[in-house]
Amino acid sequence: MNPIYERSRAVTVRPAHPGDTEAVRAIRNHAIEHSTALWTQTPQSATEGAAWLRAHLERGTAFVAEAAGEVAGFGVYAPWRDLDGFRHTVEDSVYVREGRHGLGIGSALLAALIASARDAGHHAVIADIESGNAGSIRLHERFGFHHIGTVPEAGTKFGRWFDLTIMRLPLT
Ligand SMILES: CC(C)(COP(=O)(O)OP(=O)(O)OC[C@H]1O[C@@H](n2cnc3c(N)ncnc32)[C@H](O)[C@@H]1OP(=O)(O)O)[C@@H](O)C(=O)NCCC(=O)NCCS
Repeated sequence: MNPIYERSRAVTVRPAHPGDTEAVRAIRNHAIEHSTALWTQTPQSATEGAAWLRAHLERGTAFVAEAAGEVAGFGVYAPWRDLDGFRHTVEDSVYVREGRHGLGIGSALLAALIASARDAGHHAVIADIESGNAGSIRLHERFGFHHIGTVPEAGTKFGRWFDLTIMRLPLT
């Protein structure tokens, strides 16, 4: 696989490395504190953030987007479920820094994740998305993901229930 993915607007996507830990944690914690994309209100500590990224680095499943000299977003993929029968189905996650949405950065990251998962021989990519997250649903549609189903009131945050939209991209 060519590890570098270029897109317009001077975005470069590359494999993540340990030096990205704090930038990735800051983007993730912003989403935890201010959005319904991640259904927890507990931010990652520095130790937790390092361990979380390290697990992805060891698998080679973490990428960052650089724009204007800073980490503007990250993407990871991981087994969709823990049991080994699920090992060929992975779930993607894409997060773009606040203030840089809508510039093609999420698309550049998702392209890299799909290419990496395909090169690794995986069978399908799943996206679990809060049903009101129009940006993420459009992003995944753009790459050929299909709506598989919706789980009503699958999770809660900020005192509300949220539905879960499941989307799937076949790779093989
Ligand atoms: C969802 C997210 C990753 C998309 O990344 P992005 O860089 O903003 O997306 P892009 O600029 O690459 O746009 C991809 C497509 O989505 C569309 N889009 C982006 N934001 C949108 C929004 N808020 N509403 C509707 N469509 C949107 C774009 O127009 C584009 O579609 P097009 O090709 O038809 O024009 C980003 O908005 C984000 O980080 N959101 C917060 C975290 C999050 O929700 N992550 C996903 C968890 S499942």
